[in-house]
Amino acid sequence: MKPTADPKTGASATNRSQPKSVYIKTFGCQMNDYDSAKMLEQLRGENYLPVESPRDADLILVNTCAIREKSEHKVYSLLGSLGEIKRSRPDVVIGVGGCVSQQRGDEILKRVRSVDMVFGTDNLFELPEMLREVAGGNRVVRTAWHDRKRKVDNFIPDFRLDAASLPKAAQSVKACLAITKGCNNYCTFCVVPYTRGREVSREPDNILAEAQALVDNGAREITLLGQNVNSYKTGSARFVDLLEQLNGIGGLARIRYTSPHPKDFGEELAAAHARLPKLCEYIHLPVQSGSNRILKAMRRNHTIESYLDKVTMIREKVPAMALSTDIIVGFPGETDQDFEDTLSLMRQVRFDHLFAFKFSPRSDTPAADYRHQVPEGVRAERLARLFELHEVIRKERSEALIGTRQEVLVEGPHPRETGAVTGRTRGNKPVTIPRRSAEPGELVPVTIVALRHQSLVGRETPSGSQ
Ligand code: 5AD
Ligand code: SF4
Repeated sequence: MKPTADPKTGASATNRSQPKSVYIKTFGCQMNDYDSAKMLEQLRGENYLPVESPRDADLILVNTCAIREKSEHKVYSLLGSLGEIKRSRPDVVIGVGGCVSQQRGDEILKRVRSVDMVFGTDNLFELPEMLREVAGGNRVVRTAWHDRKRKVDNFIPDFRLDAASLPKAAQSVKACLAITKGCNNYCTFCVVPYTRGREVSREPDNILAEAQALVDNGAREITLLGQNVNSYKTGSARFVDLLEQLNGIGGLARIRYTSPHPKDFGEELAAAHARLPKLCEYIHLPVQSGSNRILKAMRRNHTIESYLDKVTMIREKVPAMALSTDIIVGFPGETDQDFEDTLSLMRQVRFDHLFAFKFSPRSDTPAADYRHQVPEGVRAERLARLFELHEVIRKERSEALIGTRQEVLVEGPHPRETGAVTGRTRGNKPVTIPRRSAEPGELVPVTIVALRHQSLVGRETPSGSQ
């Protein structure tokens, strides 16, 4: 299938009777998944249908992640193999978007001959225009930032959600919704301020309308996304106001958000978890290190003491709160003692989930040039020790739930166990319910009876019974 675009008229680029096919490969975080869904939404409007393999696609889009060196390597290695498709089918269009594109721009075009267009994180809504330029025979690069002077920006224009145009991901029980983008924190290890720009918050009306549309299409749980989600603020609403308004949406069962920054996490937000029935008992609160010296070098704007105070405050307000965190090991200058401090923080807080990474130097970030880089072997060993400790804690935290009552939001049939369904608790723990059929989206009250590998096992216990 070949695009039938007319580069001169542009608008008639679509042949309605013959849909084209698009394959999107997404690397990175939930924000990238969300952006890919928005790309697909636009492309459906341009008469594209998604396909499962790049070999079947007229248009191949790669949505890239730059957070660690490994993520960037994966992008270039995929682009290398896509080059073979381009050689056998020169008409295929290959586009590269996301964080690596934002940072590297036309370097990608120079480095990879088969790429037709490169677009940054602010430019994904220009896809139809860019495709017309490519159809006109050009190689295209668009990485210009949109105007950030206005503090508030409806950065998701005219989101046009209707059931038919919704990507598969958005039709599931769990949906994501971006409320801010960008970051003003400039932690010294992090590439995000350079790949996502300065922080902007989306207008609440726009967010609420999208949330309603997601719920109308079957979403029961919405995760609000932002690089520093709890610093959300517009002229009319702060983060807690927004949560309150979302809590009022009928049919929506659960609200989550990721990732908040500890420095902006106040009592009011913790209290909202106790007050708003739909706001789940789960917070992902990145700490990054257990050593004040390292936190300072990371320019995190919080200390271990202030972090621990917040954890105590949160647990006082909501004792059942599940906590997860991000930790980087082997940040430049991290000594054995600094790392021991991280282990002891882990023992103290006892996080339910852990996302831990070896420090990876990223271009443009100050820490990439710091002296005393930690050797790879030491970084790898520290990461393994941290995961080992956490595995014990994770298991104990999960076992402590045996005998408790939990609410499970059913996501679907168990992939391997016939007759069972799976879902998650409000604390985000996976649960299998054997011998139970249920529709995705159903809330099932259970008693936890066992822990099996990574998943809890629940038995339905209707409310009121023991
Ligand atoms: N090296 C390793 N991990 C990093 N992260 C961000 N930048 C880097 C880096 N340069 C981790 C942080 C962040 C998570 C999304 O990725 O822990 O919270
Ligand atoms: Fe990766 Fe960060 Fe970009 Fe997400 S925002 S894709 S984690 S670099």
